[in-house]
Amino acid sequence: MSNIAKHVAIIMDGNGRWAQERGQKRVKGHEMGAEVVRNITTYCSDHKEIRRLTLYAFSTENWKRPRLEVEFLMQLLERYLKNELSEYLKNDVRFEPIGDLSRFSNSLQKTIHNIEEKTAHCDGLVQRLALNYGSQDEIVRAVNTLIDAGKSVTEESISEALDCTCEVDLLIRTGGDHRLSNFLLWQAAYAELFFTDTLWPDFTPEELEKIITSFMTVERRFGGLK
Ligand code: IPE
Ligand code: IPE
Ligand code: MG
Repeated sequence: MSNIAKHVAIIMDGNGRWAQERGQKRVKGHEMGAEVVRNITTYCSDHKEIRRLTLYAFSTENWKRPRLEVEFLMQLLERYLKNELSEYLKNDVRFEPIGDLSRFSNSLQKTIHNIEEKTAHCDGLVQRLALNYGSQDEIVRAVNTLIDAGKSVTEESISEALDCTCEVDLLIRTGGDHRLSNFLLWQAAYAELFFTDTLWPDFTPEELEKIITSFMTVERRFGGLK
C-alpha cells in the first residue's frame, strides 16, 4: 500500500537568493515566487488525493526584515489574493489563512477575510497560506484559548484549538536549508520531510510530483512496527 499525501506543506524558501543570483532586487524573487504558488496550487487541485496544501508565506520572524521588503510582501499578498479569486473559484479551491492576522493593516485583513468568505463554499483543495505564522505563537494562542474557556489541556484539545487542525503528511522545504523555521512544529510530528536545493521561484509541479512519488513508497511507522 502506498502513502497518500493528503496534506502537503511547503516552506517556500529562496526567493531572495534567486533574484540576487540574477543581479535583481530581492523583491523580484518574491514576485516570481507568487507565480509558483499559483502553479503548485493548480497542480495540487488537479490531484484529488491531495486535500490540503499549506504554504509558509510570512513568518512571525519575517518582520525583522527591512521595512521596504516587508511592505512589498504585504502589497504582493494583497495583489495576489485579489487576482487569484477567479482562479480559486474556477478550480473549486478554498482559501484559508493561518497565523495571527491582527498585525496586518485593516485593508489587508479585509481582503484576506473577503477571499476566505467568497471561497468558503469550495470543496476541492484547501489552500492555506501561513501569514504572520509561527508555530510557537500558534501553540501559545491555542493553549490560552483553552485556558480562557476553562477547558482541560490535552493533546486532542490543543490539536483542535490550533489554527491548522490536521496533521501534515509531507513537508517540503525549498532553498537548500534543513530547518523548520517555526513552521507546523506540532502538526509535522510524523510528517515525512523532504529538502531540495531548488530555490522556490524555480520549483515546478514536475519536481513536486517526483517528491510525492518518492513519499509514496516511504515506510511510515508512527512509532509502531511494520
Ligand atoms: C522566502 O524566501 C519567502 C519569505 C520568507 C517571505 P526568502 O525571502 O527567505 O529568500 P532567501 O532565503 O533570502 O533566498
Ligand atoms: C521561512 O523562511 C519562512 C518562510 C518561507 C515564509 P526564512 O527565510 O524566513 O527562514 P530562515 O530565516 O532562513 O530560517
Ligand atoms: Mg529565506
